[in-house]
Amino acid sequence: MNMTGLPPALPAGGNDMCPPKLGDIAPDFTARTTQGSLTFSDLRGSWVLLFSHPADFTPVCTSEFIAFARHADAFAEIGCELVGLSIDSLPSHLAWLEAIRSCFGINIPFPVIEDPSMVIARAYGMLDENAESSATIRGVYVVDTDGVIRAINWYPASIGRSIEELLRVVKALQTVDRDGVMTPEGWQPGGDVVLTGPVTQDEVTSAGPAWFFQYKQAKKK
Ligand code: BEZ
Repeated sequence: MNMTGLPPALPAGGNDMCPPKLGDIAPDFTARTTQGSLTFSDLRGSWVLLFSHPADFTPVCTSEFIAFARHADAFAEIGCELVGLSIDSLPSHLAWLEAIRSCFGINIPFPVIEDPSMVIARAYGMLDENAESSATIRGVYVVDTDGVIRAINWYPASIGRSIEELLRVVKALQTVDRDGVMTPEGWQPGGDVVLTGPVTQDEVTSAGPAWFFQYKQAKKK
């Protein structure tokens, strides 16, 4: 046990010299959050969007949290849990979420992890080496129902993320898994997908000259 009263974080799979990559199992941990203790591996069975932010009480992060809250139902509809994280303390997180509620009337419905010891940020390679303070970058890790990291996205502190785009990425991954296809540039849910490509000479011949680029109607859900 440590000062938080929780067991120390479980051994993690990555570190800041060698952050986890696509296809790796997401490093596990147990941490305090604004909604109680969370053991990350307990979320297996759901998709998870784990995202870090540089600091509480900052304008870009506040804009992102408001957008995440507004899209929370859309993430819930596709079985995707939202989990926030920064190196700020739990009291700081609680004060910031309460300020967002009282100033903007917006309740943040997902847990926000405190990581003052930076154990989790290190395990995911989220620490911004170039920042003046030990802030985390705007990291996003999309983790599938088996705990595998399926998408990673890193933005600098100065650029707010598009939450619509993150929702689109999770929907695209779910479509790829469900239908065995791929999604083209700018794909939107329900839009045409692309085939993975022929694997025999006969398939190439019957597909015609553009055999390497074939659209297909999306399956109806
Ligand atoms: C922001 O979210 O606005 C922010 C984060 C880190 C440094 C400066 C601004």
